[in-house]
Parts: sequence; C-alpha cells; structure tokens
Amino acid sequence: MLSLTPYIIRNIKLKNRIVMPPMCMYQAENGFVQAFHLTHYATRAVGNVGMIIVEATAVSPEGRISDEDLGIWDDQFIPGLKQVTDEIHRYGSKAFIQLAHAGRKSQSSASPHIAPSSLSFSDQYQIPVSMELEEIKELKENFVKGAIRAVEAGFDGIEIHGAHGYLIHEFLSQLSNFRTDEYGGSLDNRARLLREIITEVKKVLPESILFQVRISASDYDPAGLSVDNVIEALEPVKEFLDFVHVSSGGNVSRPIDLKPAYQVSFSKQIKDKLNIPTIAVGLINNSELVETVLEKNEADLIALGRELLRNPYFVNQAYAQEKQFELLPESYLRAYK
Ligand SMILES: Cc1cc2nc3c(=O)[nH]c(=O)nc-3n(C[C@H](O)[C@H](O)[C@H](O)COP(=O)(O)O)c2cc1C
Repeated sequence: MLSLTPYIIRNIKLKNRIVMPPMCMYQAENGFVQAFHLTHYATRAVGNVGMIIVEATAVSPEGRISDEDLGIWDDQFIPGLKQVTDEIHRYGSKAFIQLAHAGRKSQSSASPHIAPSSLSFSDQYQIPVSMELEEIKELKENFVKGAIRAVEAGFDGIEIHGAHGYLIHEFLSQLSNFRTDEYGGSLDNRARLLREIITEVKKVLPESILFQVRISASDYDPAGLSVDNVIEALEPVKEFLDFVHVSSGGNVSRPIDLKPAYQVSFSKQIKDKLNIPTIAVGLINNSELVETVLEKNEADLIALGRELLRNPYFVNQAYAQEKQFELLPESYLRAYK
C-alpha cells in the first residue's frame, strides 16, 4: 500500500503517509499540557501515525478558541510541549504543532477579541475589535516567538493555521475583511498577513524544521474565497513551504456537501498549480479511499481526523493486513498473528 511507504522530504523521513490532523481536545489548563495530552498523542504514535500534528495552539491568550486550548505565548509552555514531542518521538513518529490565533471566533475569557474588521462571526460570538497596525505587528511577532518555542520544545515541523475562519483566514477573505489600509481590499492586500507570517516564521526556523500552512480552499460562497484565490495568495511564499494542508470552509456559515474525500479536488488543484506537496483531509476514512487519493496523485499525505479519534491503531491494522508484522509494536504482535 502506497500509504504505508515512507515519504522523504528534504532528507526528513516520515515512516508512512498517514497524518493526524490538528484536533482541539479542550483539555488544557491555562494553556498548559495535561496528562491527557501525553496519553492522547502517545497513543497515535504507538499507532504508527507518520506525522502527528498537535492541536491548534494559541500564540496569545485571546487567540485561543476556548480557555481550554493549548498555549505557546510564554516560555513556561515549553516543558509541557517537550513532554509531548518526547512521547511522539519515543515511537518514531514526527511531531508537528499547529500555531493558531482564533481571531473573531475566540470564545476565550481573554480580551480583546481581535479581527481584521469589527464584524462578529454570528450572534453567538462577541463583536471583535478591528486591529490597529501596531497590533498586526505584534501578532506577527507572536507567531514568530511561538515558532521559536515550538522548535525548542522539539517539534519537527510547524503548521500555521490559516484556515477555518480563524484570524489569518479572516484577513484573507473578502467576507470578513473590510479594511481600507494595506491589509484590506485587493487579494494581494488581504493575503499580506498570511504571506508576512509565513515569511517571518520561515526566517527563524532551522533548516531541519518542516514548515506548512493549513488553508481553507473555499468559503463556499460566490462572493468569498475560491481555490484560485488561495493559490494566488500562496504563490509568492510557496518556496518557503514544504506542504499545504488543504481544508475548506469555516469563515461563514454556508452549506457544504459533506461527502467522502470532499476536499480532495482542492488538494489536487493546489498541488498541480503551485507544484507543492499537499496533505488532503476530510472524510477520508478507509484504506481504499486513502490509497485511491494517493495513487491518483491528488495529495502526497493523507490526514485522518475523526477516524484516528475512533481508531488510533488504523495504521497498525493496515500494516497487519499487509502482513508487515515487523512494523507493528512488538508488544502487540500477538493480537495480530
Ligand atoms: C474534535 C475536533 C477538533 C478539531 N480541531 C481542529 C484544530 O485544532 N485545528 C484545525 O485546523 N482543525 C481542527 N479540526 C478539523 C480536523 O483537523 C479535520 O480537518 C476535520 O475533522 C476533517 O477531517 P476528518 O473528516 O478526517 O475528521 C478539528 C476536528 C475535530 C473533529
């Protein structure tokens, strides 16, 4: 099975092509890693997931989605995160982290909630404060500092959260950005924050650290972002990226046709037009589908979200099915042979 073969990028080897995408567990206390996180991520590493992306981790307190999100806005968070990477590495998986700011979708108790423009996501959310240029500068610095801390905590890769209607996506989309300065208006202006964060974070990353962005390839609204817009936004910074992690939606409430592999066509378009490796995600939840997407070269890696919550040993089961018993955790062999 192609999904079970190693994937090598810039001399860094992922043991297979299965990814655990970032999934908020809402178990942190004041931003700190808890015992739950160690068990949760170690379990997927015992399950031989090639790349494990730790959930959205906030670069500032008001950048959390909830008060139970992980944080990385202070050096104090490094030891807990280091325990997570140690657990992941113990079993040979690569540890990534998603650096995030929730923007207007923050429901944390920290304030002020910030966004490109003073427009709430819905009536259930606070009306955010439109960011001053000085705050945009500070935000970029917070992503850079977060990345430096992540490297110190032992992560092999960094993912910038540019998807799902959180702050970077809010800037990118004309449905949430009504600014009249250099961060609003044209697509080039709306993409400025995304491009600056990618450029500035890349500058501080050691060569050995992989770097990727997660984007929403569509707002599912004719007046909103299209996959072509996203491709144009990423074009000038693609040289800095190892992967684009292709998701969609989340900035406005619009119906989405949720069928198996529903985001894969976006992955294919981004991969082909930008000539950059992609991670496909979204209702890809069985081995046959995983193989089809890879064989059709629609993505380079496949992320399984809810499937890995249900079944952390998805990869082990696939190894066993392929009779690759030597790749299974030795202690579990008797369950398969
Ligand atoms: C419990 C849960 C938490 C999530 N948290 C995040 C997150 O922190 N960051 C993110 O980019 N996506 C998040 N997502 C979206 C997943 O990463 C993934 O894109 C989505 O579940 C679709 O993939 P799936 O069909 O394989 O589950 C979350 C999804 C779930 C189910």
